[in-house]
Amino acid sequence: MSQTRAAITAIHGWVPEYVLTNKELEKMVDTTDEWIMTRTGIKERRILREPGKGTSDIGAEVVKGLLEKSNTKPEEIELLICATVTPDYAFPATANIISDKAGLVNAWSYDINAACSGFLYSLETASRFIETGDYKKVIVVGAEKMSMMVDYTDRATCVIFGDGGGGVLLEPTQENYGIMDSILKTDGSGRIHLFQKGGGSVKPASFETVAAKEHFIYQEGQQVFKFAVTNMARVSVDVMKRNGLSSEDVNWLVPHQANLRIIEATARRMGIRKDQVMINIEKYGNTTSGTIPLCIWEWEDQLKKGDNLILSAFGGGFTWGAVYVKWAYDPR
Ligand code: UT7
Repeated sequence: MSQTRAAITAIHGWVPEYVLTNKELEKMVDTTDEWIMTRTGIKERRILREPGKGTSDIGAEVVKGLLEKSNTKPEEIELLICATVTPDYAFPATANIISDKAGLVNAWSYDINAACSGFLYSLETASRFIETGDYKKVIVVGAEKMSMMVDYTDRATCVIFGDGGGGVLLEPTQENYGIMDSILKTDGSGRIHLFQKGGGSVKPASFETVAAKEHFIYQEGQQVFKFAVTNMARVSVDVMKRNGLSSEDVNWLVPHQANLRIIEATARRMGIRKDQVMINIEKYGNTTSGTIPLCIWEWEDQLKKGDNLILSAFGGGFTWGAVYVKWAYDPR
């Protein structure tokens, strides 16, 4: 009997309307459009500004879009996994709230926190549920309201991040398509280079943590940059080798969108041409767990059944990984 695989049968993305441009940032901090474009490749990013709205509102829009596109009823979904580092609350899980807002009355749901690799960690996890044969419809969402922890007086971080998210519906297939293989890694010693210092159990929120700005993103950019380039390329090459894929066999590299220079360096090391790479960092910046599904969503019309995609990410933790996906449907 052939193996049951998890196929992506629908993809959807959602970003808030408000566009924060480099020109606008020039008025807020000591920066220039030229510096931001040259050093990161970002022109603008989206911000969820409405008071009272959180990451679950982004996730719920993604889920509703997925259901509509795939003619699926909300009650058919059995499991929802949400990758996020910007949950609505410390608890309950944002996935629980998305389920409520999108009417997923029969799904159980939980969050995965793996920073920028969150979508890949969640995709791998979800695909295992499908492969058991026990689950027929699982949704994976990567959603972030990064603006909640960005210090808009810190030019080193405020130019990078944006809000938004995307997700996929996974269903079983007996054909040789879907989530084919993955290599996922963790190195917790990297936490000192990229984290939120305050608000957790080590340093609960206090007047002192607020005064010291410890609820914002702390990032040592150059350190993270070096680790990102080396590790994203290494796992991507390893997953290609393990599956006998040459750079010509790869139709699309879908890299986490943290910095255009990291994306280009990763592609170079993999022997991948620029026209084989999905890049939309210019429009959305770094939406952490949202970047990879947002890319695939925007490229959906160009994807054909059988295309080989390498999804690759690196982020806080450190976490990183690469997932090999064989695309399972032709453009609708
Ligand atoms: O997604 C999670 C994983 N995160 C990443 O992968 C991010 C990896 N890191 C990066 O993308 C880059 O390191 C950054 C975009 C964060 C920074 O770029 P960089 O080329 O590494 O700049 P730098 O930190 O080395 O700073 C160079 C200079 C500094 O000035 P001095 O000390 O040379 O005078 C900074 O103060 O650029 C300055 N600078 C800026 N100047 C204008 C930093 N941010 C800005 C800015 N505008 N926005």
